[in-house]
Amino acid sequence: AAPLRIGLIGFGCVGQGLYDILQHLPGFGAEVRRIAVKNPDKPRSLPKEAFSFHADELLQDRELDVLVEVIDDAAEAFRLVSAALCQGRQVVTANKAMVSQHLPELVALQREFGGTLLYEAAVCGSIPVIRTLDAYFGQEPLRSVSGIFNGSSNYVLTRMGEDGSEYAGALVEAQHKGFAETDPTLDMAAFDPRSKAVILAAHAYGVLLQPEQVLNLGIENVSATDIGYAAVANQKIKVVAGLYLLPDNQLTVFVTPQFVDRKSPLYTVDDEFNGVVIEAEYAGTQFLRGRGAGGHPTGSAVLADLAALRSSFRYAYPKLAAPTLAYTTDLEIEIY
Ligand code: HSE
Repeated sequence: AAPLRIGLIGFGCVGQGLYDILQHLPGFGAEVRRIAVKNPDKPRSLPKEAFSFHADELLQDRELDVLVEVIDDAAEAFRLVSAALCQGRQVVTANKAMVSQHLPELVALQREFGGTLLYEAAVCGSIPVIRTLDAYFGQEPLRSVSGIFNGSSNYVLTRMGEDGSEYAGALVEAQHKGFAETDPTLDMAAFDPRSKAVILAAHAYGVLLQPEQVLNLGIENVSATDIGYAAVANQKIKVVAGLYLLPDNQLTVFVTPQFVDRKSPLYTVDDEFNGVVIEAEYAGTQFLRGRGAGGHPTGSAVLADLAALRSSFRYAYPKLAAPTLAYTTDLEIEIY
C-alpha cells in the first residue's frame, strides 16, 4: 500500500515524539510530508527548512491523507481541526482542552461531512482508554470510571512523598521531563484532568459536558505534612478523577485530591504514570495503567490512531440512554 502521507501541525513534545517513532518504524508505512509550526526560528532537532509551511497550507494540501494536530493553543487547534473536518478529512489530535471544549461540534462535523477525528492521545497518554470505553464497553452499563489522569501532578506528589522534595522543585522537574503543560497551572489546579474526564464522559456514558460543569481541585494546597499524615495511615494522596453513575441514572463527575488506600490499584500509580479503573456491570472491575505523559508515550497513542484510521475505525460513542448530570459544581465545599 502507498505510505500514509501525514501533515503534522506542531512540533513540540508530542509532535517530536511521533516523528521519532515513525523514523524508527519504517515498516509502519507513513511519511511526514509537511510540518507546520508557529515559530520556525525556534531551535529544533530538524533543520529550519523542515518547518517552512503554515498550518493553513497543510489544510489546502489535499494530497495529505491525515492531518495530525499537536499544538498547544486550543482555539487555534479548533479552528484548524474544524476546518479540516468541514473538508471531510481524517484528523488526529492530542489536544484535550480543545476536544473537551468542543465535543458537540466535533461530533456534529464528523456526522455532517463524513470525516473522522481520533484523539486517543488526549487522555492518559499511552493508555488506550478511549478506545477501550468506546469500542469495547459501549454496550455495557458502567458503574464508574475513575483514576489518575494527570502525570505532572502525580509526579510532583510522588516526589514530595518519596524524597521529601519541595513542591516547586518537583514541578520544575516535571516541566524539564516534558510532562507538564506550557502553563503548569493546568496540571497543578486539575484543569487538565478535568478535560480528560469530560472526554471520557462522552465515551463511557454518552454524556456531553462542558468542562465548567465539573468540579476540579488541584494540589497547590497539599503539603508535605498532609502526605506524611496519609503515609502513617497507609494511604497516599492522589488527584483522582471520577465519573460515577448514581441511582436514577444520574452521573456525577469531579476531580479532587483524595486519600488512596494501599488496597486500591491506584495506590501503585506513581510518577508520571496514569491509571484508570473501570467498573462494569457484567465484566467486573478492570485496571489500566501506563505512562500518562511524555513525547514517546503520547506519540505512541497518535501512532495507534493513525493505524486505526487506516482500518477505517471511528468512535461509536455509546448508544445507551445517556444519564443526566448531577451538577457537582453546586456542592458547597469547604477548603481548609
Ligand atoms: N500535562 C499532561 C500531564 C500531559 O501531565 O498529564 C499529558 O496529557
